[in-house]
Amino acid sequence: MRIAPFLFPLVLWGAPPSGEAVYQKRCSGCHEQTDPRIPHREALQKMPATRIVRALDSGAMMSVAFTMSRDERIAVASYLGTDAPAAPPPASAFCADRSVKLSGAPKFAWNGWSPGSSNARFQPDQAAKLSIDQVRGLRLKWAFGFDGDVTAFAPPTVIDGQVFVGSAAGLIHAMRAESGCLQWVFQANGPVRSSILAARQGKQHVLLFGDMTGWFYALQAETGRLLWKQHIETHDSTRLTGAPVAYNGTVYVPVASWEETRSADPDYPCCTFRGSVVALRIRDGQQLWKTYMSPVPQETGKNARGISQFGPSGVGVWASPTLDPKRRLLYVTTGDNYSKPATNNSDAVMALDLATGRIVWSKQILAADVFNGACRSDSSCGPDFDFGSSAILVTAEDGRELLLAGQKSGIVFGLDPAKQGEIVWQTRVGKGSTNGGVQWGMATDGQRVYAAVSDLVRTRLTNPVGARRSGVDPKQGGGLTALRIADGSQVWHVAAAPCAENAPMGCSPAQPGAVTGIPGVVFATSVDGHLRAHSAEDGQVLWDFDTVRDFDTVNGVKARGGSIDGPGAVVVNGMVFITSGYPRNGGIPGNVLLAFGSL
Ligand code: HEC
Repeated sequence: MRIAPFLFPLVLWGAPPSGEAVYQKRCSGCHEQTDPRIPHREALQKMPATRIVRALDSGAMMSVAFTMSRDERIAVASYLGTDAPAAPPPASAFCADRSVKLSGAPKFAWNGWSPGSSNARFQPDQAAKLSIDQVRGLRLKWAFGFDGDVTAFAPPTVIDGQVFVGSAAGLIHAMRAESGCLQWVFQANGPVRSSILAARQGKQHVLLFGDMTGWFYALQAETGRLLWKQHIETHDSTRLTGAPVAYNGTVYVPVASWEETRSADPDYPCCTFRGSVVALRIRDGQQLWKTYMSPVPQETGKNARGISQFGPSGVGVWASPTLDPKRRLLYVTTGDNYSKPATNNSDAVMALDLATGRIVWSKQILAADVFNGACRSDSSCGPDFDFGSSAILVTAEDGRELLLAGQKSGIVFGLDPAKQGEIVWQTRVGKGSTNGGVQWGMATDGQRVYAAVSDLVRTRLTNPVGARRSGVDPKQGGGLTALRIADGSQVWHVAAAPCAENAPMGCSPAQPGAVTGIPGVVFATSVDGHLRAHSAEDGQVLWDFDTVRDFDTVNGVKARGGSIDGPGAVVVNGMVFITSGYPRNGGIPGNVLLAFGSL
């Protein structure tokens, strides 16, 4: 069968693989068995190839495919599957009136990763329109199911009653906030995890987002029509996870990768990926600059199996950059090195010139943190303390500006943007580990910063269920802390609620998901599947919703909630939105977008 040529990335390592060879090596061991839980080879041969790629990228086969290249995934899917197109959503899922209208000056918006470009993840009263009393009375208004997915990790963007949200299947949905009916859908090349950013372009709006295969898109918001797309990083393991930000006609895109886990395969020539930030002209997608965070890798030797090894590498940029128009800077946070030698910009907070991408300063928080999937037995590795969340630019009560950065180490830093990121204070809020620490993001109301920690503890399943190999400890992890911005001192801390005795496999109290603030309230999520609203005053729980259950959905798709790991709550005009479902790292699968309101 044919798959459009744009799906094929640059072939880095030799000739394209044979689908049959990949199947024999990686799939036949399970899929030739007569086990009722495993679809037999003949069943796979009746599936569309697109669905098989999806199962490998973001579905049931993620834990099998995580060392496979993009070419191998496409080759095996083409070899096994049919070329039937993916079924479109049923007509009943669409609105009667499918028009999308966005005003030039929206009143109620959560656009991109954070309502403002400082990345505070704080929705002020006039846009949140949700009092503490209304939070106590929040009720589910509607649920929307992502058909065939086991992961729902993309946070929605909401502008004046209009929702835009990506999905693990790579579908972008335009829908109404009031009812969840669809206006249009767009199919991207790979899973879309990043928030979508809407930017004004003349009388129209452009939607900007990246996918998990290195493609970056501009769609016309009103119609869902593709304006342009760019493969902005061709390295096979590229992942565009962090949301873009836009300023003066330019969009800034953070670039990360999954090469760190890919290298668990001893036959993989580890490692060659280099994290970067790319600036594109919104009008036509032309690249204005690209700044790599790590130098060009060289061969450093061979591993025990004779496979060439490369370094330095890594320093991915996982989170949305932060704009500082006053200083004409863009702040980015970076991840670790994947292979030696260690370099200066890993685990750092950096300032780039908005116009040229030149590195103006780089504050390395932890030096010599080199980690990859082959590390388990090597004690010189790690500790794998990336920054996975954005730096927040905030003005403290005394008028002094600070950059707040939370690390997987479990430490929150207050840095001075006027002094090249000099550390003003640092406070530990968690233990820190490969699974975080502070992972996806904090929120601040200008006086306090609210930091949730993951500290997820993984276990190996002695009795694997299906293709799942790892589980989680239901007793360890989590915690939410409020710190004073002025000096980093603790205002309050609440321990995570433990998993219930009858909680499903994959329950953990860990809280890697991003935190959201509105006046008086802090929303936090957990791998246990709960979305909780805490009092900003003392951390006490005001409202708690368990998403791990079946939902009747407005689009008629069977849907269930699961772990929440990544996206945070989005609060706009009296409504609260959350996506739920994350089986990676041993968590609970799910495929739902939920919308709450105070009825
Ligand atoms: C360790 C055993 C194992 C291996 C290896 C394995 N699978 Fe699977 N596969 C399963 C099981 C079990 C299921 C049923 C879903 C589940 O329980 O997670 C499944 C389900 C699937 C599905 C159905 C997903 C859907 O959308 O319904 C596809 C497609 C698939 N596998 C493709 C592959 C391909 C392609 C490979 C090789 C690259 C592969 N599998 C390797 C065990 C395996």
